[in-house]
Amino acid sequence: MRTSRSTTTTRTFRAPGIPLRKRIAALLTGAVSVAALVGAGATTAHAADTPLRDLAAAQGKVIGTAVTGSKLTGAYGDIAGAQFSSLTPGNAMKWGTVEPTQGSFNWSEADQIVAFAQAHHQQVRGHTLVWHNQNPNWLTNGSWTPAQLSSLLQNHITTEVTRYKGKIAAWDVVNEAFNEDGTYRPTLWYDNLGADYIANALTWAHAADPAAKLYINDYNVEGVNAKSTALYNLVKSLKQRGVPIDGVGLQAHLILGQVPATLQQNIQRFADLGVDVAITELDVRMQLPATAASLTQQKADFKSVVGACAAVTRCVNVTVWGFTDSDSWVPSTFPGYGAATPYDENYNPKPAYYGIAEALGGGTSTPPPPPGGACTATYSVSSQWNDGFTGQVRIACSGASLSSWKVSWSYGAGQRITQAWNAVCTQSGAVVTCQNASYNGTVPDGGAVTFGFNASWSGSNPVPTVTLG
Ligand code: XIL
Repeated sequence: MRTSRSTTTTRTFRAPGIPLRKRIAALLTGAVSVAALVGAGATTAHAADTPLRDLAAAQGKVIGTAVTGSKLTGAYGDIAGAQFSSLTPGNAMKWGTVEPTQGSFNWSEADQIVAFAQAHHQQVRGHTLVWHNQNPNWLTNGSWTPAQLSSLLQNHITTEVTRYKGKIAAWDVVNEAFNEDGTYRPTLWYDNLGADYIANALTWAHAADPAAKLYINDYNVEGVNAKSTALYNLVKSLKQRGVPIDGVGLQAHLILGQVPATLQQNIQRFADLGVDVAITELDVRMQLPATAASLTQQKADFKSVVGACAAVTRCVNVTVWGFTDSDSWVPSTFPGYGAATPYDENYNPKPAYYGIAEALGGGTSTPPPPPGGACTATYSVSSQWNDGFTGQVRIACSGASLSSWKVSWSYGAGQRITQAWNAVCTQSGAVVTCQNASYNGTVPDGGAVTFGFNASWSGSNPVPTVTLG
């Protein structure tokens, strides 16, 4: 015997990302991608619509993101250009990228990012000249005398810094030189050239572009600890020796809920040495799937990191390591973790985005109510029998649109999806994730898409909360 019931739950989201003035201009010229239009309705300007770069500028700060050159079109390019005042090539300027074969150079992605930045009146942070990772095989597999290695390094730095002379605001000259206990990391450079490879690299970079700010950059140096103290002592001694060092980069690859309590104090002690400080690679990873609670905690974490920088005059730049979860190194590097950036995979701003905005003096509500633009996902059960049921999810947009979609929910009573249509669904434990089929990713403004599924149940069949995005 079949009974029938219908219950709905709804979750709403919207997406600033492109400032209203730019959205309207783009609409008039027809030159904006569908994804970029999510949330673009006939809305009145809200404080949260002020781009992060404008909020940062009002505080005398620069807000940056790491980018992938090939992605700088469509919604990704629109957001990168509109929201950020600095770009860091995520990989494009690393030695392994620019000189894959000795003497043969590939500057294409780096050139593209620099050109994009110039067109959007953005700074570029060069990243990175001396590191133990992502070096070309010819270099790491070669056998070199210390003198040869030193001249290879000098040549590399001189070539790259000269190429972009006048176009790079700051270089992460030396990356990740320390172990966790504050001793020097054994690398190709340290093992063969000793600790002075750092001073030499800075000196060579300065000779090639005297105007660029030169940084030493590392991770797990955000709080006061053995590693950051070693970095502090090095910077102090470099300054005393007259070595050209202008700044310290704190990468800030953080874990949810673990912003060091001493972050601001640590930034301040570096500033007091007479150098600038930048948060160079901020992300806050969490165990997947993200929940409303973890996204709220993430907002607090982003807000406290940006707030700590905002509170110290010499903290000049906060850069996120990818602005969207679709362009983050976290899922592949830390299995089971993700959702580490301020925008989701569909370029919708997450609570973390508003955490950044609030720390920069922007809007205070999270997220703001959707005045005219929103897409919602509604779950309902249309038919239920002794051990199974049929359900559907309707994704509807009003004043917004989607070019692809993904919804997820967590079953609270052991329900299991057995079959789905008009979507590709997977279930892992309690968590169901459904993405559009090849033919129904587009949900136009004023339109809707529905997919259906069969599932099993026993005992009870509570309606889950559905997350869109
Ligand atoms: C990461 C990139 O984001 C990845 O795409 C790449 O596969 C590995 O490197 N610290 C750094 C960055 O200084 O250069 C790293 O970037 C992340 C950790």
